[in-house]
Amino acid sequence: MKIIKAKDYDEMSRKAANLIAAQIYVKPDCVLGLATGSTPIGTYKELVAKYEMGDLDFSEVTTVNLDEYKGITKENDQSYYYFMNDNLFSHVNINKEKTFLPDGTEPDSDKACNAYNEIIHSVGGQDLQLLGLGHNGHIGFNEPASEFPLETHCVDLTESTIKANQRFFASYDDVPKQAYTMGIKTIMQAKKVLVVVSGEDKADIVQKAFFGPVTPEVPASVLQLHPDCTVVADAAALSKVNM
Ligand code: GLP
Repeated sequence: MKIIKAKDYDEMSRKAANLIAAQIYVKPDCVLGLATGSTPIGTYKELVAKYEMGDLDFSEVTTVNLDEYKGITKENDQSYYYFMNDNLFSHVNINKEKTFLPDGTEPDSDKACNAYNEIIHSVGGQDLQLLGLGHNGHIGFNEPASEFPLETHCVDLTESTIKANQRFFASYDDVPKQAYTMGIKTIMQAKKVLVVVSGEDKADIVQKAFFGPVTPEVPASVLQLHPDCTVVADAAALSKVNM
């Protein structure tokens, strides 16, 4: 695991965007695994800026997102579908038919998850998977558990995650309580993994996830075993580790 220290959120975003841009340069028809949450927003802004400068071409890129809330419409501005369009897809020359997320509108969990696994397999898996890090160590929506979930599955979100997401919704009751998420095996099969982490509130979990024991109680800890994982974190997120 390689850890790159950035001085602040903006530098973290630039460094992460450079790594994603490098992936697109070396393989223009690459498959990017993408993430939501507040952390990657700056990374997407940097990618859009590179596109606007004429430095980046998304026309052959395919994307598969980590997760989507269950029971939310695509038009809902809190859906991850909406987020991805708003933060990236609508601003670059990507072919929207090649952008995939789990279908949150499908009420049958097995059907939704099997269909998403099929899509990921049919595009050949991710060349690069971007990840944020939840406060309890979750990646995608793989919450702390007694074992690592394998492929796309439906999860009951933990209280901590529901509370963390509450800021985006009108009230606690409006926050979806379930989500469809890629599993740990699917994430680990990505050729490269890129994690972005920012802020002092993530310092404890950074220490546990990347410097502590590998355990499904801290899902992100499994990334220590990935052969090509880079963490780009700002100084605040790294404030509890010696670097
Ligand atoms: C959500 C997403 C995760 C994300 C996490 C952290 O739960 N499903 O993919 O990494 O939030 O979000 P933030 O970057 O806003 O701290």
